[in-house]
Amino acid sequence: MRSIMLLNAKGGCGKSTLASNLASHYATEGKAVALVDFDPQKSGLEWLSVRSEDDWEILGIDGTEQGMRIPRNIDVAIYDVPAGISGKNLTAMVKRADTILIPVLPSPIDIRAASHFIRDLLLVGKVSRKQTKLAVIANRVRENTLVYHKLEKFLKSLKIPFIATLRDTQNYIHAEEQGLGIFELTPSLVAQDIEQWQPLLKWLRNKRVHGAIK
Ligand SMILES: Nc1ncnc2c1ncn2[C@@H]1O[C@H](COP(=O)(O)OP(=O)(O)O)[C@@H](O)[C@H]1O
Ligand SMILES: [Mg+2]
Repeated sequence: MRSIMLLNAKGGCGKSTLASNLASHYATEGKAVALVDFDPQKSGLEWLSVRSEDDWEILGIDGTEQGMRIPRNIDVAIYDVPAGISGKNLTAMVKRADTILIPVLPSPIDIRAASHFIRDLLLVGKVSRKQTKLAVIANRVRENTLVYHKLEKFLKSLKIPFIATLRDTQNYIHAEEQGLGIFELTPSLVAQDIEQWQPLLKWLRNKRVHGAIK
């Protein structure tokens, strides 16, 4: 089973949005997908509850429940982790995943928070760079803004692959409202966004730890 975790101690950077869209992507490929929601606010499970019988199946699992287990038939488990995780909880959490994706917003506060979080992740979280694939993603980007250039510079300065830039668009909001991912919307409306996901999806397909945008 593949296990992909959306992680960042900062709230609002797009963990749940990327988690639901990744789940939607793998579901449309016919994979058996579980969305494991560790957030007590359960935004991931609520998103799933809006889906209909006709939509691609995604299994919702409440990660906050004691003794939570992922069924053996699951091909891909997507872990949506709440903000504010640190110390021992962070160390225990990161062990669950073979891949960790860190979304970061183009804002000075988010950039600063991300730089602290990534240091924690590697030191306190003891993420083994040999065992865990780790990457950063710029999210809610408006191209040609000064703050995006600052984010880009920061993300490229890290020793972690910077694998995708996703724009700020209502498409994610429209999808979310319907319990869908952008991969399930009318293709002509989301072509640009699907395109922006390609380097991320390609990186996820690669077994080896490489693929940074340089
Ligand atoms: N690329 C994007 N474009 C537009 N809105 C976005 C994008 N990514 C996230 N959002 C919105 O930003 C808000 C916070 O995102 P969310 O995924 O809930 O963050 P987190 O789970 O990290 O707290 C949500 O309202 C979400 O719909
Ligand atoms: Mg969330």
